[in-house]
Amino acid sequence: MEVGLKTLVLPAGAAANAAAARTLAEGGLVAFPTETVYGLGADATNPAAIARLYQAKGRPAFNPLIAHVGDIGAARQIGQFDAQALALAEAFWPGPLTLVVPKTPDCAVADLATAGLDTVAIRIPAHPVASEILRLFGRPVVAPSANLSGHVSPTTADHVRSDLDGRIDLIVDGGAVAVGVESTIVGCFGTPMLLRPGGLPRAEIERVLGRALLQPPADADSDSGQPLAPGMLASHYAPRTKVRLHADRLEPGEALLAFGSHPVPGIDAAAAVMNLSVGGDLAEAAANLFGYLRALDTGSAYTIAVMPIPDDGLGEAINDRLRRAAVGRE
Ligand code: TXA
Ligand code: MG
Repeated sequence: MEVGLKTLVLPAGAAANAAAARTLAEGGLVAFPTETVYGLGADATNPAAIARLYQAKGRPAFNPLIAHVGDIGAARQIGQFDAQALALAEAFWPGPLTLVVPKTPDCAVADLATAGLDTVAIRIPAHPVASEILRLFGRPVVAPSANLSGHVSPTTADHVRSDLDGRIDLIVDGGAVAVGVESTIVGCFGTPMLLRPGGLPRAEIERVLGRALLQPPADADSDSGQPLAPGMLASHYAPRTKVRLHADRLEPGEALLAFGSHPVPGIDAAAAVMNLSVGGDLAEAAANLFGYLRALDTGSAYTIAVMPIPDDGLGEAINDRLRRAAVGRE
């Protein structure tokens, strides 16, 4: 794509939503807020627009995208919902849940967006700006997180701009997002399977299903081969600075990503300290996670040390993203 494109930034509102729908219809790329993270949208039915989207992100072309729609009727035009998929859709949409279901025979989502799979990932976001853009546009919108491939997901319009300025057409600035980690992805092609932990805790999903979610095969979570959900690439979420997990003390020159109010030996020599949630609130920690990782990833510390975070509720998604951030990148 022509890097050097003029990227317009508009504050959320009627004019921005109309410009977003118009830009999508013209095959353009629009970043917009959802409740989880900012998405980079393109017309899901337009292969040329989707090709530009992959280029703008620098994303490997085998990585399939989520189709965002405005309501369950639109979802059922592109995907086949069995009883369990329907139960999850009705319980949690709009919301931070993505369902991977078999495509319908006349699914309008381009093959390029589904990476040639016979399933499609679908989500109805719960954010007034996203909902209004989807309503005005009237077709499915594919939207990966609006960051360069391999960077952490953006939770503010500024994060989007720092990664994608000059590479996309429009950014709709709707302020900081509420959830802060990407949607939970459940595969509903057979017994429901947790493909990616995310903004909707596993326990809530299992309560509606009345059974445990299957785990994907262990070899799906790997940089080699074709992962079930390539967002599970081991190093997908890595910042540039090295990340050290389960830190209970700080080495000189490290930055600290804290959680809760436990004292940390060595904190006086910290290069920087940010606390995900002083009160130990996992929802607050999720909302702060990617922004704080970006803020500590400035090169002033040689390592970001992260305090232990409980694994229940949203902690499963937070720890998943942190483990990926800690896998070294070349
Ligand atoms: O919260 C979110 O889900 C955000 C916002 C913008 O909606 N989007 C997002 O998209 O996180 P992305 O592209 O960063 O992650 C999409 C994930 C990838 O892990 C991809 O492999 C998986 O969805 N996926 C998409 N289609 C799939 C399919 N047919 N089968 C399995 N996994 C699929
Ligand atoms: Mg992403």
